[in-house]
Amino acid sequence: MKKGVSLSSPFLKRITLLSEKVDRGLFPFNRFPNLLDDEFSLDFPTPVTFFTGENGTGKSTVLEAIAKLCGFHLGGGGSDHQLHETSDQSESVLADFLRPSWLPKVSKGFFFRSDTFSDVARYLDDEGNSAGGRLHEQSHGESLLSLFAYHFGTSERCIYLLDEPENALSPTRQMSFLRLLRDWEDSCNAQMIVATHSPIIMSYPGATILSFDGESVEPIEYKETEHYRITKAFLGNPERYLAELFEDEPESY
Ligand SMILES: Nc1ncnc2c1ncn2[C@@H]1O[C@H](COP(=O)(O)OP(=O)(O)OP(=O)(O)O)[C@@H](O)[C@H]1O
Ligand SMILES: [Mg+2]
Repeated sequence: MKKGVSLSSPFLKRITLLSEKVDRGLFPFNRFPNLLDDEFSLDFPTPVTFFTGENGTGKSTVLEAIAKLCGFHLGGGGSDHQLHETSDQSESVLADFLRPSWLPKVSKGFFFRSDTFSDVARYLDDEGNSAGGRLHEQSHGESLLSLFAYHFGTSERCIYLLDEPENALSPTRQMSFLRLLRDWEDSCNAQMIVATHSPIIMSYPGATILSFDGESVEPIEYKETEHYRITKAFLGNPERYLAELFEDEPESY
């Protein structure tokens, strides 16, 4: 089939809160009353979107809700996998109050969460799906990159939701991951929404970066992110930061 412009990634264009139906006594509305206010909506104008922000600001909560909207198992894994119930039994209440805008609706893909990666890797090994080698016979970082490189296809439209893919990846492997992002984007068949703390990963050109650090989720430029600024400042003068951190004199380092 020819690639029609309007049917290329991104497929999920927007999510909007159905605010009139929300029970504000429930998590996550009681935890994030400002973020998830009556106006809450997120736009995904580009094939790659990053969620960035401090720990506990709601990135995984929103990503999990999107996973449910896609019909993915909330414990993580691929849309084709018949996973047993994993250790994570959580339900996404938020998803029940979100309206997704798709063009077209996509239900293929993968929800990667680093905390259940081991269960998913065991499932793929047990299935005999050994593209790229058995995942459990590789190091943590190697198996992660094998999963992304060999188990994520682009032959049909798919959406990849990745929660902290940098987990266990060396800086060099994080750059290999950027190369994979480019291949997926070039296929026009893949949309990626990635929660990350990695300043290397969020440097990917042309991505939308959404910051969860303010009262509402807002687009932010790469070099304006806390992660970029703090990492750059720290690496530029680690002695000064360490001295401040340990209330010591810079000369002693
Ligand atoms: N089911 C729940 N009930 C109550 N609180 C919860 C529940 N799930 C998560 N939380 C809390 O909501 C907050 C947001 O969690 P979330 O995992 O979305 O943050 P995050 O932005 O992904 O953080 P991190 O960068 O550390 O992964 C956390 O403080 C967490 O303890
Ligand atoms: Mg998280």
